[in-house]
Amino acid sequence: MPNNIAFISCESWEKEYLKNKFKGNRVKFFEQLTCEADYAKLQQFDIISGFINTSFQAKNLAKLKNLKYITTRSTGFDHIDIKQAKKMGIKVSNVPLYGANTVAEHTFALILTLSRKIYESIERTKKSDFLLDGLRGFDLKGKTIGVIGTGSIGEHVVRMADGFQMNILMYDVFKNTRLVKKYKGKYVTLTKLLKESDIITLHLPYNKATHHLLNAKNIKNIKSGSYLINTARGGLVETKAFIKALTSGQLAGAGLDVLEEEGLIKEEIQLLDRQTSREKLSAVLQDHILLKMDNVIVTPHNAFNSGEALQRILNTTVENIERFIKGKPINLVN
Ligand code: NAI
Repeated sequence: MPNNIAFISCESWEKEYLKNKFKGNRVKFFEQLTCEADYAKLQQFDIISGFINTSFQAKNLAKLKNLKYITTRSTGFDHIDIKQAKKMGIKVSNVPLYGANTVAEHTFALILTLSRKIYESIERTKKSDFLLDGLRGFDLKGKTIGVIGTGSIGEHVVRMADGFQMNILMYDVFKNTRLVKKYKGKYVTLTKLLKESDIITLHLPYNKATHHLLNAKNIKNIKSGSYLINTARGGLVETKAFIKALTSGQLAGAGLDVLEEEGLIKEEIQLLDRQTSREKLSAVLQDHILLKMDNVIVTPHNAFNSGEALQRILNTTVENIERFIKGKPINLVN
């Protein structure tokens, strides 16, 4: 029997590839879903594949009575209410490994942009200004990097940091002895990592346990003049306390690929028509403050976005769906 499969937010080359792969099924493509009425259009589908901006919170899931399977084209799945999906008998898969090196490379792109003032340097030379005032950077060699979360992406970050001859401190609930042996990384407490790192980089999933992992209480422990890199999820950091640390100089700067409530900032105009909580509006305001700060560079949740990584995401998504249809789902997260 053909399956009803919906794909959300696909580019045209992805559509062609997916149409070919799922010939014989009813396949439909939708643009990004923004309001409740958009979710109502998905009622007939039993399989849906979206991206991180396809929110499957309980109120949206409630509209999807026929849904049996969600496969997200991402590693992170904090945009899906996993408990509610389980209650409704909906299985959820992700793409666990598609570009750990890809995100780690972007992490170093942010680090080097800050350490060598690349952004300011390019802006100046575009204006034919070749003066070096204010463009002095710092070496990574001999500096200490604190890697929080040493899973797939964190491991590549450790490998690259070793290439730069940095000292490596690590924090994770699970200790990867390979990183200790091969790269001389040292597992320490979160407090010690914050106190001793020149660059702190986050590579954890976002969930209840990691919400505001860096917060008003422990941001105080951060070594004065260090840098924070976040390519994981905005909600790992309490933005208000983070802004204070950036303003006081406790943090010299930050490189961010993710922001707290970044979904709202992307669709900001809709806030005018929507009932939005004070807390969420405050988060949007805080994001705007961050975006304007001279010592903060922000990329638009783009760390995953290499051609190679996207092809791997699509291959795994196809495999996820094929295996689900055969009754042998893989890469399940619930
Ligand atoms: P992973 O699952 O391989 O590694 C995560 C690590 O965090 C694990 O070693 C785990 O033990 C550790 N961890 C989990 N909870 C913890 C806690 N409470 N305290 C300490 N350690 C904890 O995940 P991976 O592939 O390295 O990805 C990490 C995150 O990066 C993803 O969850 C996702 O949110 C984000 N990401 C961002 C992308 C982007 O484009 N900006 C692309 C891909 C992932």
